[in-house]
Amino acid sequence: MRIILLGPPGAGKGTQAQSISNKYVIPHISTGDIFRMNITEGTELGVLAKSYMDKGLLVPDDVTINLVKSRLKEKDTKNGFLLDGFPRTIHQAEVLDELLAEDHEAIETALLIKVPRAFIIMRMTGRRVCPNCGASYHLEFNPPMISQICDDCGSNLIQREDDKKETVLERLEIYDFQTKPLIDYYEKKGILKEVDGTKAINEVFEEIISILGDNK
Ligand code: AP5
Ligand code: ZN
Repeated sequence: MRIILLGPPGAGKGTQAQSISNKYVIPHISTGDIFRMNITEGTELGVLAKSYMDKGLLVPDDVTINLVKSRLKEKDTKNGFLLDGFPRTIHQAEVLDELLAEDHEAIETALLIKVPRAFIIMRMTGRRVCPNCGASYHLEFNPPMISQICDDCGSNLIQREDDKKETVLERLEIYDFQTKPLIDYYEKKGILKEVDGTKAINEVFEEIISILGDNK
């Protein structure tokens, strides 16, 4: 199963990706999470990525593509993977297709989580994330069991730097200009599936299962 998750910032891609990855036993590969881990560890990649992410801009294609190329070479992707936050430009999508074609493989489903703009600001300003394991919560819609503490690893939750309102607005602009064209790209390939991301988290997941199938 080779899946791509599409949708604007705050659509719920990361939230659904965790459940999809658990159910279908495929690795969840989030370029945003990989960049954030590198920022936490203070690597060279982290320093570079942070300079773009804090402004709400995309990290340059060559950097992101190399990162994904090396991640997809790891053994755990042999039976499939779930890409979250990649591709984000037409160029990234084309390179991904070429890369998979070398092994006679292809993306099977591009899942678009549709959420109108009015929901997005509310979701992103209420989001809290775990700096240690990447788990994502919402103060109101998906709170942790103990206030401000990650259910999975017990770390203190934080607010993402790029979840400030001005940066969110910049990210939405970038999404419209650079990422939205991917919807047409995958529709033309006949693999685009849409889910209504305004429903409750578990209802969105049910809809995704009905698309991907109930077998593991
Ligand atoms: P990335 O981390 O990919 O951010 P994003 O796409 O902007 O998406 P988000 O993580 O903001 O949102 P999400 O859809 O995952 O929503 P979530 O599930 O958390 O990228 C960050 C940055 O990294 C980019 O700006 C760029 O700089 C760089 N980058 C990454 N990939 C790149 C690439 N390929 N090329 C270049 N640069 C790249 O949900 C949001 C909130 O809502 C949470 O609090 C959640 O609990 C809540 N929620 C979720 N679903 C529901 C629901 N159904 N009902 C109510 N609340 C919900
Ligand atoms: Zn955690």
